[in-house]
Amino acid sequence: MRCTFGLALLAGLALGRPAPEPASQADSAIAYVDQETGFTFSEFKAAYSLTQNIVYRIALPSNAPSGNYNAVVQVVAPNQVGWTGLAWGGNMIRNPLTVAYPSGSKVTVSSRWATGHSTPASYTGATYTLLSKGNRVNGTHWQYSAKCVGCTTWTGASGSQRINPTGSARLAFAYSPNKPSSPSSNTSTIPVHDVANYWSHDFSVGLNSNFDALLAQNGAA
Ligand code: HEM
Repeated sequence: MRCTFGLALLAGLALGRPAPEPASQADSAIAYVDQETGFTFSEFKAAYSLTQNIVYRIALPSNAPSGNYNAVVQVVAPNQVGWTGLAWGGNMIRNPLTVAYPSGSKVTVSSRWATGHSTPASYTGATYTLLSKGNRVNGTHWQYSAKCVGCTTWTGASGSQRINPTGSARLAFAYSPNKPSSPSSNTSTIPVHDVANYWSHDFSVGLNSNFDALLAQNGAA
């Protein structure tokens, strides 16, 4: 099965009435201070079913240079999630896709890029370094925390794109309950998603004045 839900539609279904206006977090993000890594993230909980969420968190530097700048992405997914992807430009095609899946006690992060609605290729324009903290697989969830170099700028379908750290922009996610064929490989084949959706993300609530020092504390300077 493959379907695309609207978050508001999901909320409407849950309430047994037509879709209401999106809930407050549906068009924004909230600040989340992660005690483990020390980063302040902008957080969005994306519903992939009526009862389950995947949590997407993004931490950015307060004084980002005008061109490309680094980001930290943290994702928390229930164990039922086989893979999930975050699309930095808010849709599937021509933007950095941060795909991840559990592999035993670890999480594999895979850099991808799609030129159509078919399996995305590996993407060397964005690279990931797992932080020394904030990565786990336990009895209920899997989680990763990674520095991304190359997620905040790219050349999309309509030219150069840059995430404005003090603004809001559309992000998208994809979810599959099915596992990639070679989970320890960051170039594994991945099965198509069951759900894909997007939201407007307020990056400004996840700015860090000590971004580089926090990266160093997390082994990813
Ligand atoms: C694994 C192979 C993949 C296939 C075959 C695939 C296929 C498709 C197709 C056919 C659609 C059109 C809408 C629909 O009919 O549901 C779609 C939409 C979408 N996909 Fe994928 N997809 C794949 C991987 C990914 C990945 C890794 C992401 C990462 C975030 C992603 C994100 C999205 C998003 C956000 C949409 C909705 C917006 C749009 O149309 O761009 N997909 N995909």
